[in-house]
Amino acid sequence: MNNLTFYGQSTFSIEIKGKTILFDPFISANEKANHIDINTIKADYVLVSHGHFDHVADVEAIAKNNDAIVVSNYEVATWFGKKECKYHPLNHGGKWTFDFGTVKYVNAVHSSVLPDGSNGGNAGGFVIWNDEGCFYFAGDTALTLDMQLIPLTCPKLDFAILPIGDNFTMGYEDASIAANFIECDKIVGCHFDTFGFIEIDHEAAKAAFEKKGKELILPTIGSNINL
Ligand code: NI
Ligand code: MN
Repeated sequence: MNNLTFYGQSTFSIEIKGKTILFDPFISANEKANHIDINTIKADYVLVSHGHFDHVADVEAIAKNNDAIVVSNYEVATWFGKKECKYHPLNHGGKWTFDFGTVKYVNAVHSSVLPDGSNGGNAGGFVIWNDEGCFYFAGDTALTLDMQLIPLTCPKLDFAILPIGDNFTMGYEDASIAANFIECDKIVGCHFDTFGFIEIDHEAAKAAFEKKGKELILPTIGSNINL
């Protein structure tokens, strides 16, 4: 598992066993990221946490460019299926082993509706593992006690990607508690600074994690993250 790259908001890509996994692509409609040409983005799988626009805007284009498989909850995955994307539907608590590793769709506390008003099911996150490691991509979520199930049901996490921007998701204070719930010391923050409601104080956010003996990495757009 290497080459974790941040493309703004909640968009990340990572290489796992020679496959490129892309999360929640929202690039062309993100003022902070639209200097990145989505036609240069590679993906074998596009994992989508929920149906909101700031997580699905570039799913169809990138999935079709790469003949990638869209993995999400049943409602979101089949919505992309109707747009002739390849897809694999999951639902909460379920896992499936792909050629790069096992993907478990886990609970999030958040809403989910697709851009055309279609039912986006219930929002979720992903835990992904293989013999090389394990990580958690939380999607958009509040702090929830369900996060305590992750260490009970999944391998030990090497790192986790958590939303920290507040207003629409948990803020960094609650995210630092989430890091305890999931028993993970290395957190990559996302869903911050994209627009006014979710601008954060970087130093205060890092300090909140340091106080708990945790590391918060605040990635910059377009950069590789040194894990
Ligand atoms: Ni959302
Ligand atoms: Mn969002």
